[in-house]
Amino acid sequence: MDSNKRPDDMVRITTPELAQAFIDEQVAACREQIGDKKVLLALSGGVDSSVVAALLIKAVGKQLICVHVNHGLMRKGESEQVIDVFQNQLDANLVYVDVTDRFLDLLAGVEEPERKRKIIGAEFIRVFEEEARKVGDEVSFLAQGTIYPDILESDGVKAHHNVGGLPDDLQFELCEPVKLLFKDEVRVIGRELGLPENMVERQPFPGPGLGVRCLGAITRDRLEVLREADAILREEFANAGLQGKVWQYFVSVPDFRVTGVREGKRLYGWPAFIRAVNTVDAMTAEVPELDWALLKKIGGRISAEVPGICRVLYDLTPKPCGTIEFE
Ligand code: XMP
Repeated sequence: MDSNKRPDDMVRITTPELAQAFIDEQVAACREQIGDKKVLLALSGGVDSSVVAALLIKAVGKQLICVHVNHGLMRKGESEQVIDVFQNQLDANLVYVDVTDRFLDLLAGVEEPERKRKIIGAEFIRVFEEEARKVGDEVSFLAQGTIYPDILESDGVKAHHNVGGLPDDLQFELCEPVKLLFKDEVRVIGRELGLPENMVERQPFPGPGLGVRCLGAITRDRLEVLREADAILREEFANAGLQGKVWQYFVSVPDFRVTGVREGKRLYGWPAFIRAVNTVDAMTAEVPELDWALLKKIGGRISAEVPGICRVLYDLTPKPCGTIEFE
């Protein structure tokens, strides 16, 4: 039997009971696979890697080594939440590496989006590889949050990968306990494993993170402004009950300034672009008709609370012709 093919009669996991049965089954299977060896996982804080981490903590406890790479392009509070949930609450064996300076130094002055992506992707692998080598000899398995759509799409349609291609000389056997599941099933399992709701319902976040939302050449001051504005947007969407209802929503900040007025004085600040989309497969996307009062509130809060921003715009472009990200 092809282990990468979801059996036709496999029941869709929609209830806590079905999730519990899946968890019991996978905990036993992972224990059997891993034995007394060590297993390594790149833990981004996204739904898939978080669910795999929680499952493996249940199965093999501290034999799992989670590596969380903070490349300085995470959203506000995300790395902190990974540490809080996995280290403090679940008592995981977590290696946290803050390589913000290393990434921002490499990206200084780089304007072209694809070059930014390449630099971020390549450096991410380098950091992960360094950390893997530190725990090196003892590790036999690499766990990944591969899900079924990743397998279905791996025929070259999409270039966005989990880890992005690992070095050939790292010889690991793969452990992919959720590889036959769809995203909604992974979420049900995450809930049953006790992960926080905002982690379970986390919207897709690109590997290069805020790097492709801080448009053009990334600067630390603009990155910080973007992070704050994006946090306000996410807070207001959550308060309005839109978390998990709108597929993806975020702020981008371009590398030019516009004129505004603050406290009676002329000010050159950055505009903030709000992007919200609904989609099934990210190949095409629609812009939701958001409540006007909500948009006004978000615009008002961002321009009042984030000093560098003096204008807020809502992007009306569906995909096509706009892509979801600005870069
Ligand atoms: P676009 O902008 O291509 O985005 O319409 C489609 C979906 O892919 C995400 N995205 C990325 N994900 N690495 C990723 O892991 C990337 O370089 C990347 N670029 C875009 C985007 O957030 C959206 O969900």
